[in-house]
Amino acid sequence: MHRLLLFKTRIKTQGVLKTIDFYYCRIIQLIFSTIIFKRFDLRIFPDARLGGVHYMRIGEGFGAGRGLWLEAVTDYAVTGQVFSPELIIGDRVNVGEYVHIGCNHRIIIGNDVLMGSKIYITDHNHGVYREDFSDSPDVPPISRHLTENESVEIGNRCWIGEFVTILPGVTIGEGCIIGSHSTVTRDIPSNSIAVGSPARVVKKWDEEKKKWLRV
Ligand SMILES: CC(C)(COP(=O)(O)OP(=O)(O)OC[C@H]1O[C@@H](n2cnc3c(N)ncnc32)[C@H](O)[C@@H]1OP(=O)(O)O)[C@@H](O)C(=O)NCCC(=O)NCCS
Repeated sequence: MHRLLLFKTRIKTQGVLKTIDFYYCRIIQLIFSTIIFKRFDLRIFPDARLGGVHYMRIGEGFGAGRGLWLEAVTDYAVTGQVFSPELIIGDRVNVGEYVHIGCNHRIIIGNDVLMGSKIYITDHNHGVYREDFSDSPDVPPISRHLTENESVEIGNRCWIGEFVTILPGVTIGEGCIIGSHSTVTRDIPSNSIAVGSPARVVKKWDEEKKKWLRV
């Protein structure tokens, strides 16, 4: 009954063609998710690029726009490296279009996280550029070792804006908002709004006043 009412409302507000497109998308997402994950609750388009599915744990109700790219990297043939990645996505996570998550160690995304489109999250680099371990610019980037052991964590109920990049080793606490086009290079404490490249905290939630206050 409820579904019939939704169907009628959809036809009325969006017209026949958009309604057909909506159900067409739902059906192809259902078929794809059933084949790849043997589950009915995921909304993933068949154009998704998924690597290392056995190293992913995806919570209930995950939904993604077109062009999703989830890569749990198990090996890098160029350098002969092997990895045991863990890509963990919580319950009710929704992401927009063309989101790319690359993981060779550990990326954990909490429950109820919302992401915009064109977001990149990675826990590794091609080579090291710090102090004694620096990789030489004479070596082609593709031939440099992938860095390892840097986790990325995104807490429950975070909202990640459009075009955000989240780099290796970063923890974003619960309830944070990351402004569009930001690059997160350092940890962000819980209940903060961070913006810019590199992302800096500009507001924090004041639990007593029940307001976001500038810092
Ligand atoms: C992060 C965001 C929610 C902040 O909203 P807000 O709290 O109303 O922001 P304010 O306008 O009070 O801005 C606070 C400061 O941060 C700056 N700022 C806000 N968003 C910024 C961004 N994305 N990048 C850089 N600076 C930003 C403002 O210019 C302002 O700086 P100032 O103090 O020097 O003037 C919003 O700007 C944003 O980026 N939303 C994401 C939209 C999006 O991607 N939607 C996708 C849908 S899923």
